[in-house]
Amino acid sequence: MSRRNYLVGIDIGTVEIRVGIGEPRPDGTVNIIGLGLSPSAGVRKGAIVDLEKTVESIVSAAEEAERMAGFKIDSAYVGLKGLNIELINNRGVVAVTSEDREIREEDLERVIQSARVVALPMDREIVDIIPREYIVDGFSGIRDPVGMLGVRLEVDALVVTSLITSLHNMLRCVNRAGISIKGLVLQAMANSEIALSSDERDLGVFLIDIGGGTTELVLFQHGKLQKMSVIPIGGDHVSTDLAAGLRINHHVAEELKKEHGSAMLSLAESEPKIEIQTVGSNELRLVSEREITSFIEPRVQEIFQITKEEMVKMGWPHLPPAGIVLRGGVSSMKGLAAMGRNFFESDQVRLANFDVVGIQNPIYSTVVGLLYYAQRYQPRMYIHERGRQKKKRGLGLWQRLKDWLADITE
Ligand SMILES: Nc1ncnc2c1ncn2[C@@H]1O[C@H](COP(=O)(O)OP(=O)(O)OP(=O)(O)O)[C@@H](O)[C@H]1O
Ligand SMILES: [Mg+2]
Repeated sequence: MSRRNYLVGIDIGTVEIRVGIGEPRPDGTVNIIGLGLSPSAGVRKGAIVDLEKTVESIVSAAEEAERMAGFKIDSAYVGLKGLNIELINNRGVVAVTSEDREIREEDLERVIQSARVVALPMDREIVDIIPREYIVDGFSGIRDPVGMLGVRLEVDALVVTSLITSLHNMLRCVNRAGISIKGLVLQAMANSEIALSSDERDLGVFLIDIGGGTTELVLFQHGKLQKMSVIPIGGDHVSTDLAAGLRINHHVAEELKKEHGSAMLSLAESEPKIEIQTVGSNELRLVSEREITSFIEPRVQEIFQITKEEMVKMGWPHLPPAGIVLRGGVSSMKGLAAMGRNFFESDQVRLANFDVVGIQNPIYSTVVGLLYYAQRYQPRMYIHERGRQKKKRGLGLWQRLKDWLADITE
């Protein structure tokens, strides 16, 4: 099948790598035509620790999505989440150059580039610049100044930075899987696109993504991303606690947690009717949901406690008006929202709802968010993919020529 106009998103998670292929529709939505996933053996806490295993996982997830879509992919948008990402507030300013003083796309591009001027430690690199608001001749709060008249254009932007080594390891893995990177997108931006309403983003809301190895909390207010923090704890720690508590294999604990675990003791049944086999014993033992949950609840509470401390550091001792929206694999845990409401003593804690984009399986919500984000904002790649060593997975002559040109001009 011939290649068409399509978008690809890759979510390199601690537990799984997911790839999504979508066709942009004229109404701004995306038609999902391919999805694939593969366990990510080479990722810890959102950072790559084994290149080869990660490349294999990306290839395998990409091939699954390609089989579904019926064609090969050659480029993708990649989501960023992890302890290595930091945001810096910065301002850029330029003079409007056109004779008639009308602000054009080129001025926007220049002012965003001017926000790149920021003192960075040697080991960090700028990944993206997210404009929060524009200021024209001193008037702030402007979302899109193109077409307005002015002399001085300023931007208030968030500069997204990453540790150079971890970023380039990730880029290298994607490249080695035969895929070039069209743009890097903060997962929080992608997720907010489909998990939050614009009213929530205006009023103020925390979006909390509890994944396998990390928990990320981001604050949106006045329609924009304001703050972000990542905590190195997630669902994997819950499984580890359960495995140690019941003396069972980690893999068994993971399954037991998903099937019978709950975030809150008061929601768990106390009848011992679940069979488990403890390590080093041939005998089966019966446990109750309550016993299982007794090893889960403290860790969930700890995740919420640290999250709350981060919110206080961000200047929010109380919840913002639109409260908290929970997402990520752990949000599928029974009773998580109830536990959240209990912990934060507020009714304003809910699970993300992906009905708007029509996906049944929230596992793919980040890649679907990436596709929607890419369709709406066409993010660009700000950094060079160094040392590109692509496996050419049946790419066309034109693409190979483009890659070769990019390599020699790098
Ligand atoms: N029904 C469920 N009940 C409890 N936990 C669940 C359930 N479904 C998934 N999880 C947990 O969610 C975690 C995986 O979440 P997710 O898929 O969002 O992680 P990831 O994106 O791979 O990792 P990260 O975002 O931390 O890099 C695992 O710990 C898994 O056990
Ligand atoms: Mg994730």
